[in-house]
Amino acid sequence: MAIQCRVLEGFHRVPFSRFTSSHTNHRCDRESGMVMIGAFVDDRPAGLAVVLCNADNESALLESIFVDPSARRRGAGRRLLETTEAICIDRSIRTLRGSWYHDAPSASSIGSLIEACGWSSPEEKSTVHRGGRRVLEHLDRTSRAWRPPEGFRLESWSDLSDTEIESLGPLRGRNEIPLGLHPEGESMLAVSASTSVVLRRDEEIVGWMLNHLIGCETLRYSSLWLRPDLIGRGFGISITIESSRRHLAVVDRLPRLIFHVSRDNDAMHRFVQRRLMPGIERSSRLLVSERVL
Ligand SMILES: CC(C)(COP(=O)(O)OP(=O)(O)OC[C@H]1O[C@@H](n2cnc3c(N)ncnc32)[C@H](O)[C@@H]1OP(=O)(O)O)[C@@H](O)C(=O)NCCC(=O)NCCS
Repeated sequence: MAIQCRVLEGFHRVPFSRFTSSHTNHRCDRESGMVMIGAFVDDRPAGLAVVLCNADNESALLESIFVDPSARRRGAGRRLLETTEAICIDRSIRTLRGSWYHDAPSASSIGSLIEACGWSSPEEKSTVHRGGRRVLEHLDRTSRAWRPPEGFRLESWSDLSDTEIESLGPLRGRNEIPLGLHPEGESMLAVSASTSVVLRRDEEIVGWMLNHLIGCETLRYSSLWLRPDLIGRGFGISITIESSRRHLAVVDRLPRLIFHVSRDNDAMHRFVQRRLMPGIERSSRLLVSERVL
């Protein structure tokens, strides 16, 4: 049995597309840093690894790894991972990271593979919660209407003009907003204009809850940002609830929701436990592991 792994370009990718999600295939077509590495067993497509290598980054992300069930436990997964690592080393990348959900069907095989290949012990980075109408109705029923303090008001994302949306760019540098919490941090998914909200103090934008559409029926509660001096005053929870009320108004069209809470966000963990748990359908811990190259 011969195993070979190589980078796939153009139409050579087609026979491997079934080894990853349509979302990842779509990203591979559009994002320049996405590299597809195919595994051939006896010259036949048998597996795929996808890695995101951005030219200006010292770390890369293993987006997906999959070996056809009929070809497993014969070394293809290990070869895919070794080839991915070699490609990263060629590009002067120092760390390769991967993540997966603790309750995914593949969790134990992925965990065993990366352990066998010398990656670090998996660490929990965040929890991903999923739900639907029930969680929105529960939150609506158990929450009072929010009265913003004097000078503050909440607006729908759909009320922002194009010029105002452009003005959020420089805000990022001024307030040191992490890319993941800024509208520019998501280039693939559309902002849900009817459910995302911005918080204003007088005319200045000082916070937001951005939601993105995943597929045609899921809303991701993606980025909750507040100007640092406003943290700890209950604004975050309030604008989350107001965003969820806007979601409830369109829940027939968007029946699913998903959101991450990072491990250190104690206030949000408490909020989820006390206020949302009766409606949450599934909570998965996101595990992260890495290999220093
Ligand atoms: C994880 C996966 C890629 C491993 O591929 P593979 O070709 O079977 O892996 P290898 O044969 O190279 O295994 C290398 C080592 O990893 C470990 N390992 C891999 N799969 C394992 C399993 N199911 N149980 C225990 N150990 C396992 C073993 O130590 C193995 O060495 P060994 O066979 O000498 O004991 C494969 O099981 C898979 O595709 N699973 C589904 C992953 C998935 O759903 N991905 C999509 C989301 S990212």
